Amino acid sequence: MKTQTFVSATLISLSLAIPFVAYAQTDTQKLDQQSRGLAKEFLGKLKPELMHAMKNGGPVHALSFCNTKAPEIAANLSKSSGWHVNRVSLKPRGASATPDKWEVAVLKDFEAQKMAGIPVKQMEYSEVIKVDGKPTYRYMKPIPTGAVCLTCHGTHIAPAVKQKLNELYPHDKAVGFNKGDIRGAFSFSKTL
Ligand code: HEC
Repeated sequence: MKTQTFVSATLISLSLAIPFVAYAQTDTQKLDQQSRGLAKEFLGKLKPELMHAMKNGGPVHALSFCNTKAPEIAANLSKSSGWHVNRVSLKPRGASATPDKWEVAVLKDFEAQKMAGIPVKQMEYSEVIKVDGKPTYRYMKPIPTGAVCLTCHGTHIAPAVKQKLNELYPHDKAVGFNKGDIRGAFSFSKTL
């Protein structure tokens, strides 16, 4: 059922409380490795371009870039991998960033692990559960907040950025973060 080094007792009990059936015997090592690769690929496609957009066009321009490019990268990766590729958060901004029950439980567990002093970079969680009657592999890996992220996710957002955010995301919850916080997580799934 679990495969990562840092599974905690909280998450096990939480996930069992969710109405899905866990498949204890599935060997998920290979899938975990593929997930790590997908997370790397997502970051590798987004981050350099985001930095470039920030440097050359400023944060308001970069915001529009994130608005269109991030969903596009997720869609392309979903297509090329055959997985469902997404990013979610307990404080969501993007249209698809609102977590489902399983994702909420995992995100909360990541927060609990952080409180317990476990480095965010080492965290991940995977499990095979039944979704719509089908065994489904699910994987999550938290995304830490870096200094550069604070321009659009921090506690002091410049007025022009705030205005653009209000325009694009009237229900935005993804502000008020500090460096080192868990901004959200990659969430991948694959029907087995
Ligand atoms: C220029 C502004 C900007 C910067 C800088 C920025 N983001 Fe974002 N971020 C956005 C926007 C806009 C979205 C929503 C994208 C969408 O519509 O899917 C977003 C979405 C996200 C999401 C998906 C979950 C959600 O709430 O939608 C994560 C995770 C995330 N950002 C993490 C980061 C991290 C980590 C950094 C720093 C490396 C960062 N962001 C830097 C603007 C920014």
